[in-house]
Amino acid sequence: MDEWPTTEGPDARACTSSERTWAQRFAQLTESLRAHRHLWGPRPFACLRLPWEEAYPEVSDWLRSLPFAEVDRVESGEELPASAPALLHSWRATAARLARLAPWGSRPLPATLSTLGTQVSARKREQIGAFCGAVLPALPSGVTTLIEWCAGRGHLGHLCAGCTGLPVLSLEREAGLCAKGNHLAVQTGIRQQHLQVDVLAPATWEYLRPGVAVLALHACGVLTSTLVREAARRGVSAVAFAPCCHHFLNKAAEYTPVSAAGQRAGLPLSAQDLRLSIVDEIVASATVRAAGRREEAFRLGLDLLVREASGGGDYRSPGHLPPAWVRLPFADFCRTAAAHAGLPLPAHWSPASAEAAGSERGRITRALCMVRAQFRRPLELWAVLERALCLEESGYAVRVGTFCSRQTTPRNILVVATR
Ligand SMILES: C[S@@+](CC[C@H](N)C(=O)[O-])C[C@H]1O[C@@H](n2cnc3c(N)ncnc32)[C@H](O)[C@@H]1O
Repeated sequence: MDEWPTTEGPDARACTSSERTWAQRFAQLTESLRAHRHLWGPRPFACLRLPWEEAYPEVSDWLRSLPFAEVDRVESGEELPASAPALLHSWRATAARLARLAPWGSRPLPATLSTLGTQVSARKREQIGAFCGAVLPALPSGVTTLIEWCAGRGHLGHLCAGCTGLPVLSLEREAGLCAKGNHLAVQTGIRQQHLQVDVLAPATWEYLRPGVAVLALHACGVLTSTLVREAARRGVSAVAFAPCCHHFLNKAAEYTPVSAAGQRAGLPLSAQDLRLSIVDEIVASATVRAAGRREEAFRLGLDLLVREASGGGDYRSPGHLPPAWVRLPFADFCRTAAAHAGLPLPAHWSPASAEAAGSERGRITRALCMVRAQFRRPLELWAVLERALCLEESGYAVRVGTFCSRQTTPRNILVVATR
């Protein structure tokens, strides 16, 4: 077994906060999200003109005239141009202040990572190394078992078992992933067992008890909420989670808060609202981005034709479309997608001008999205703190910080709660 290095723990000063501070930040986030819902709620993709544009014509005019290259630059995380309206600068500054988080102290990757062989991508390696490096030194004494929640192939559990020597139980729904994880554990002699279970089933929650530390890397929406709620009820010794896919509500119409603060906040959030928190392209390759731009322009061009044929009305999505259709020429794409979704097309239309109109609308839509995008990280932090506060309210000491760069994973907010 590799020894876990004992030098320099996570940046506890930066990450630790009193209950009052996280609760205060949560209250500020709630207020800001509530006050600015008119800016982040409506989706530019679905509207020809956004409700806020009349109230802020200087912002609307500036964004609508922004060239493609400038939109790309700002989307990739660069500063707003100095020529941007003061209001846009001020929204951005407020969002940055509300969403600020300290990074956890970085740690060298443990040698045990080598037993994972070539099965793990470089980015996943960095993610699990950083998660492990932040969480393991923060675990309290008295932890005798680690549970990996929504384990996938259990790479994180593998690394943690190797670093600590503690037995790891990796909970995962997919039988194939469990089989692969168990195979690797046997091959490498790591103390890790995969169990094929549904973490939403009450029988699974029996594994949550004192002496257990639960690790959840990228457990989607409700899967993290369920862990937090049940871990707090059952008094596990520690919980560490970095959630993703906040919009996964398991068919519920709205987000269900697990903390008293979240329930008091009374901020209704639909899956559509929460989707905003995860729509960053920071780790997408240039090819993936280009394909996304093409699909967006094609869909917007099709929408203009459908509106023309039906005399206006609301945006009507053709639904999920096979990627191969987006590689067709624009006119074929429109005919295929419209027939598939039962959408009308005008009797006569020019493919060249409809394609150009879609492309221009794509530029404007992406520029207008900049306003909404300011609230992406505050919304994500709101959803993470909502779970953190549930544990704090139950007597856990809670630390919140970023465990890796956003290039390694944009879902990089980590909560570690110990008792
Ligand atoms: C985004 S992946 C994360 C996997 C792994 N933790 C990682 O970071 O690589 C989420 C995992 O949760 C599993 N999952 C989804 N719903 C589940 C459920 N109800 N019970 C158990 N596992 C579930 C999926 O099969 C998937 O492997």
